[in-house]
Amino acid sequence: MAHIVGGITTSHVPAIGRAIAKNLQDDPYWKPFFDGFKPVHDWLAKARPDVLVVFYNDHGLNFFLDKMPTFAVGAAPVYTNADEGWGIPSLPPFTGELDLSWQVINHLVGADFDLTTCQEMRVDHAFTLPLALCWPDQKWPVKVVPVCINTVQFPLPSAARCYKLGEEVGKAIRAWNSDARVAIMGTGGLSHQLDGERAGFINKDFDLAFMESIVHDPKWATQYSIEELVEKSGTQGVELVMWLAARGALGEKVTEVHRNYHLPISNTATGLLVMEPST
Ligand code: DHB
Ligand code: FE
Repeated sequence: MAHIVGGITTSHVPAIGRAIAKNLQDDPYWKPFFDGFKPVHDWLAKARPDVLVVFYNDHGLNFFLDKMPTFAVGAAPVYTNADEGWGIPSLPPFTGELDLSWQVINHLVGADFDLTTCQEMRVDHAFTLPLALCWPDQKWPVKVVPVCINTVQFPLPSAARCYKLGEEVGKAIRAWNSDARVAIMGTGGLSHQLDGERAGFINKDFDLAFMESIVHDPKWATQYSIEELVEKSGTQGVELVMWLAARGALGEKVTEVHRNYHLPISNTATGLLVMEPST
């Protein structure tokens, strides 16, 4: 059976793509952020995942406001990136792990999650940039399964529902008839708000409490409604539900391997955690 080697939760911001394209990693503005990924590279070298399951939200590249699935799982042989309008270079395509995609889809539908299944799917900065932070040479050593959660157009699925989705994805992976080493990723948050009268809103106290809860008390944030999470973390900060899904997939207890928190990057407070399941 497949083995979950660990998980990475991180923020995503389009400006990271521009910094990579311009080689600004050692620039004083960017260094504390990019340096946070050095321990991730060391961990990945030891954990050697074959497959990466990524919880993220699309921002209008693959799904637009006319068709917005709450949960969508990729089942494509290849996932391509394209310019979303930020003017940053597109990253190389990602190879799909079809067998695991269908394992996850069958398991989730069996567990009463109503999904959209995507046999063609483009992936945006929320998927591509965290992978580029993990593998700066952009020669992706993993096959991927994208799991997309709507945090763009209301109504959004609750934090509790996203955690449960992650738990079921974890069960599907552990039941997969394969000897593959699987890592989990969740991308989004932490606190930020891009629009409206609270544009620029950041809540460091909440972010730090949330990161601590992800390690030691992972259902803590599921006590809050989406509206309460928006109030605490900003309209786009609610992307933190990806961290809950990823954490749900890792199982009951985890060991923390690495943590970084830095603000701001663009308008966003950025967080990073690496965790391994405790046995
Ligand atoms: C920013 C953050 C995001 O999560 C995003 O998807 C787009 C932009 C920002 O801070 O600029
Ligand atoms: Fe985003």
